[in-house]
Amino acid sequence: MKRILVTGGAGFVGSHLCERLLNEGNDVICLDNYFTGNKENVVHLLDNPYFELVRHDITEPFYAEVDEIYNMACPASPVHYQYNPIKTIKTSVMGAINTLGLAKRVKAKILQASTSEVYGDPTVHPQPESYWGNVNPIGIRSCYDEGKRCAETLFMDYHSQNDVAIKIIRIFNTYGPRMNPNDGRVVSNFIMQALRGEDITIFGDGKQTRSFQYVDDLVEGIIRMMNSDPKFLGPVNLGNPNEFTMLELAEAVIRLTNSNSKLKFMPLPQDDPKQRQPDINLAKEKLDGWQPNIQLEEGLLETIKYFKTKI
Ligand SMILES: NC(=O)c1ccc[n+]([C@@H]2O[C@H](COP(=O)([O-])OP(=O)(O)OC[C@H]3O[C@@H](n4cnc5c(N)ncnc54)[C@H](O)[C@@H]3O)[C@@H](O)[C@H]2O)c1
Repeated sequence: MKRILVTGGAGFVGSHLCERLLNEGNDVICLDNYFTGNKENVVHLLDNPYFELVRHDITEPFYAEVDEIYNMACPASPVHYQYNPIKTIKTSVMGAINTLGLAKRVKAKILQASTSEVYGDPTVHPQPESYWGNVNPIGIRSCYDEGKRCAETLFMDYHSQNDVAIKIIRIFNTYGPRMNPNDGRVVSNFIMQALRGEDITIFGDGKQTRSFQYVDDLVEGIIRMMNSDPKFLGPVNLGNPNEFTMLELAEAVIRLTNSNSKLKFMPLPQDDPKQRQPDINLAKEKLDGWQPNIQLEEGLLETIKYFKTKI
């Protein structure tokens, strides 16, 4: 049995990860400051004697004897990470320093949840891991993008300087049950608006594309990455390469919710990337043929079922 620390474990992705790790017979410590996460996301795990929930902010050091660390803590949606940008960048940078310091001290293997946002508004399409990105360092998204980029640097430096066993994943847009319904991300926005019969707001002309990965596919990729060849550090993209325009997504949501909602077009926010699509060849090669299996419609139906309980 491994003892595993999941920071941000009460969040959307973190809670699915805690559940999976417990199901595989591990001892899990879930650490969270509940900024965007919620006890409700893990309440069903509290009866498990191998699950511990700790209220802690990763900008402060934390100590526990663990074998592995999944560093998931960081607000992920623009409305949340722009609410307190200084705190966001502190969470990425100081959180990385604190968790890497712990990994070094207890000789734990540590995985960083990085993001496709490190590619910024990409000029290369789809984005392979070798692409360095096109990021505005002083824009409204920078607290998140640059914080995550700096965290990747710290991970690499702790590895080369202190021999810490690290893994870096770059997560592309992920959706599924336990997403925060008010996080302002496109999937949650569209579903909540459709379920409430409100207009569906589309920024710009709706022709910008995104790829959406269902959370179970991501969790599978995360676990495979943690257990992959120790020499393979990443970064590795984890996302679904199937691209959809915002218009196509809105139409699918309206159809699957049987909603009467109409489309409403709004101006594009600053620095909104026009296109984002993962190149997942590296993940396929290094993670035993990993690729997303759950298609958009199936994943949307599960997510809609969850969001109905939140109305
Ligand atoms: N969901 C996505 O589409 C996506 C895409 C790219 C990257 N990621 C990354 O994956 C991770 C999880 O994202 P998510 O979608 O589950 O977001 P989330 O907001 O649901 O989860 C983040 C969790 O971290 C906690 N947290 C935030 N700041 C903290 C701090 N200072 N100390 C302790 N806990 C803190 C929050 O309370 C929350 O429970 C994040 O690091 C995010 O950047 C997610």
